[in-house]
Amino acid sequence: MPEYQTFEHDVLIIGAGGAGLRAAIEASAAGVKVGVITKSLLGKAHTVMAEGGIAAAMGNVDDRDNWRVHFADTMRGGQYLNNPRMAELHAKEAPDRVRELEAWGAVFDRTEDGRILQRNFGGHKYPRLAHVGDRTGLEMIRTLQDHGIHQGIDVHMECTVVTLLKSGGRMAGAFCYERERGRYKLFRAKAIVLATGGIGRAFKITSNSWEYTGDGHSLAYHAGATLMDMEFVQFHPTGMIWPPSVRGLLVTEGVRGEGGILVNNQGKRFMFDDIPANYKSQTADNPEEGWRYTQGDKSARRPPELLTRDHVARCIMREVREGRGSPHGGVLLDIAWIKEKLPNAAEIIKKKLPSMYHQFKQLGDIDITKEPMEIGPTTHYMMGGVRVDGDTQMSDVPGLFAAGECGAGLHGANRLGGNSLSDLVVFGQRAGEYAAKFAKKHTPADIDMSQVDATARQALEPFERTGESPYQVQHDLQDMMQDKVGIVRREEEMEQALDGILKLRERAKHVAVIGNREYNPGWHTALDLPNLLTVSEAITRAALLRKESRGAHFRDDYPTKDETYGSFNLIVREGKDGEMTVTREPLPPLSAELKKVIEEMK
Ligand code: FUM
Repeated sequence: MPEYQTFEHDVLIIGAGGAGLRAAIEASAAGVKVGVITKSLLGKAHTVMAEGGIAAAMGNVDDRDNWRVHFADTMRGGQYLNNPRMAELHAKEAPDRVRELEAWGAVFDRTEDGRILQRNFGGHKYPRLAHVGDRTGLEMIRTLQDHGIHQGIDVHMECTVVTLLKSGGRMAGAFCYERERGRYKLFRAKAIVLATGGIGRAFKITSNSWEYTGDGHSLAYHAGATLMDMEFVQFHPTGMIWPPSVRGLLVTEGVRGEGGILVNNQGKRFMFDDIPANYKSQTADNPEEGWRYTQGDKSARRPPELLTRDHVARCIMREVREGRGSPHGGVLLDIAWIKEKLPNAAEIIKKKLPSMYHQFKQLGDIDITKEPMEIGPTTHYMMGGVRVDGDTQMSDVPGLFAAGECGAGLHGANRLGGNSLSDLVVFGQRAGEYAAKFAKKHTPADIDMSQVDATARQALEPFERTGESPYQVQHDLQDMMQDKVGIVRREEEMEQALDGILKLRERAKHVAVIGNREYNPGWHTALDLPNLLTVSEAITRAALLRKESRGAHFRDDYPTKDETYGSFNLIVREGKDGEMTVTREPLPPLSAELKKVIEEMK
């Protein structure tokens, strides 16, 4: 019989990035017993890859900013598929969450008169991103960890959840293995918060590290929760492309926020060639005006490099496809050019973008104060995730909550940069609060030990087989998703991908691993594969059904937006027979007040 170490918590949080830590702090402050499980070491989370800042309408740099403008920007960026209640709460509560971080010790950059400094980012009308150079996510994690550590939270590091356990229709616990010794752990909990982040490892080129295999999405789906907006995967326009070992590593949008420009191999600023109609009035049509905007001239309009990420990524792909790309298949991002404008440019670049300076110097032998960077799009963020109630963050399964990237609703078809960090703390706080309330109202649910035993035995089956390596299956999946369900999508290729995913699912059932249970990454990959396949199937099926182009979802065969597709979200559920179903569901209602805000801001 398998053996288990057993733990009991009122609220169990799965994931220790910004959302998980913020949820843990809140639940713990409510007086319940909290446990946090993290797949990796504490502090290692994709949160650190949101480098350029946290979006909050504080109005420190431009006092015209307020929650209404932030709400309208978020809705427009999401092409109006967002959950408006979430966009409203997010815009209203983000400033308090930032001030709270400051009170807990986050050392933000400052304006000359000592307030938190805010910078420009794509799709945000005013300078809105509170930041710490280009290490904002890192500073947030440090602050939340330092604060959380004093709250009496139990942390279980290097622990991966294999399945969620239900009883009587509600959450009962989670079954896990720990990486170090390969031992099993059984967690009993009255409420569970999923804060597992994204799905980037389903693609070949990504800013996500090895942990991001869609675990929360897949766990929730198999527990009976609903997934939503799975067709919307964000490809950040600027990832490193050279050397190959660091391909996909993020190059912060903060570079463009500080005046960085995109040029093709003919030295042309190609972003001026294609400015979408709905952003025309806000976008500069000449370089000089764009530069003035980045330097704080309130009468100037933003440069086209600061259009939304979906658009910028597609323009880069166009340049590459049409033969105007850089030597390694991207384009050039140039911040060094500002030396034409500012005598102390090198100093400013190193001060405002210290990580980028070191990243390119150490990894690519490029001095970004003197020469341009070669960049290209990288899979960065998942807009789709677990459908939750906007106020409480509870999913359709009682006692199961989701916050941050593995939740859905706030960002619609495309997320604005900086709205991820604010999402984490706004909805992490809410998830923690409501999970604690749920736990206080319920007694622990019974766990079906026969389900646990069966899962435990099944998890060890790869050791008993001979056959293909899990890495080969993972590699083939990543290649296929990149090629066939990537930035530009076509019906025929996605049909091939779907067929391929079903075949890979069969191969995944037969993968074999060697060695023993202690620190065995092959075994871990074998157990990650079902999650990667579930999210890949959901992405592909939803992308096939959305026969239009909107936000991050671009179809070559349906290149324009179709208003009939603007009235629903695509919902993914597991059917009774285990088949995946994708259906349309009308958008949540937009209140008269919020409608008015959108109208006014247009
Ligand atoms: O470009 C960046 O710094 C990323 C920010 C984000 O994804 O929010």
